[in-house]
Amino acid sequence: MRVHQPLKLVSSALLAGAALAATPAAHAQDQLNVICSVQADWCNGLSTAYARATGVKMNVSLKGSGEALAQLIAERDNPKTDVWFGGTGDPHLQAAEQGLTLEYKSPAMTQLHPWAQRQAQQSGYKTVGIYSGPLGFGYNPELLAKKKLAVPHSWADLLKPEYKGEIQVANPASSGTAYTMIATLVQLMGEDKAFDYMKALHKNIGQYTRSGTAPIKAVARGETAVSISFVHDGPPEKLHGFPVETVTPAEGTGAEIGSMSIVKGARHVEAAKKFYDWALTPAAQEIPFQTKASFQVPSNMATKLDPNVPDFRKIKFIDYDYAKYGASVERKRLIARWEKDVNSLPR
Ligand code: F6P
Repeated sequence: MRVHQPLKLVSSALLAGAALAATPAAHAQDQLNVICSVQADWCNGLSTAYARATGVKMNVSLKGSGEALAQLIAERDNPKTDVWFGGTGDPHLQAAEQGLTLEYKSPAMTQLHPWAQRQAQQSGYKTVGIYSGPLGFGYNPELLAKKKLAVPHSWADLLKPEYKGEIQVANPASSGTAYTMIATLVQLMGEDKAFDYMKALHKNIGQYTRSGTAPIKAVARGETAVSISFVHDGPPEKLHGFPVETVTPAEGTGAEIGSMSIVKGARHVEAAKKFYDWALTPAAQEIPFQTKASFQVPSNMATKLDPNVPDFRKIKFIDYDYAKYGASVERKRLIARWEKDVNSLPR
């Protein structure tokens, strides 16, 4: 696990030390421990911009959505994390339901898209939507041409025997992207048919990765031809010069509501609330575009959209039930069923 310690501000570290020495029980509010579940470039861009704007030092730990939730559960009695930034919304809702996150209503709430506000209302204001993006496929057109394979346009296409070993997706226990795939398929096909589908798909999977963004990076580098990924993770690879395209499945697909939560019992709770308010501003929400890290739709309606953001009007969406698939019992049950019925099968 990579842990980033960006921008060591000597003066603020000294000040923090002095404050701690004066009041041993109080936690200095000039630093913040953040679990960051988006692309590394975005996390680093956030911490640099935030330190520059406020002098607050962010200690950032990169973790996939499922791993982040597992950490918050493990830290429940003695939280070390202040803010969980990003990652798919389902495990944030699960954390809210389990009482792991703090109720907080930012003054910026009314500036957000209705889907982001709904995410907050649904959780009793223990999380909030910060971005949204559709699930689809990534592919490497050069590798497909070399292997004489067609571009897949539907979930059904992915089952074709010619894709054997050519598709990557993440493991849903660690990755919110992969859990979004399970929840999408269950809503699209009905549960038993969705599991039959995933068992058939399993034969074509070359590797289940830990991180949700790893498969499209493998596509970019020509290690695999196709990935099941969020489509907003394609353009960053392309902007770095790799041959990657994305497509959304003809039958319909789901979208994530990437979320942010303050940890209940956070040591730097005042600093956490300030960061939370800042992270909902258009200036902060443009950071993933400026760092070319990823291209979701930002939750603040005033944020200027980048041309690389997917056009939602051209995509066929299912009516994703965020409350149902973010519930602890449902998420745990579906992941356990996937482990037992799908992942245990030989390939
Ligand atoms: O930043 C990239 C991204 O795809 C986000 O949109 C998403 O919330 C997150 O990664 C999911 O990562 P993982 O699947 O590893 O939990």
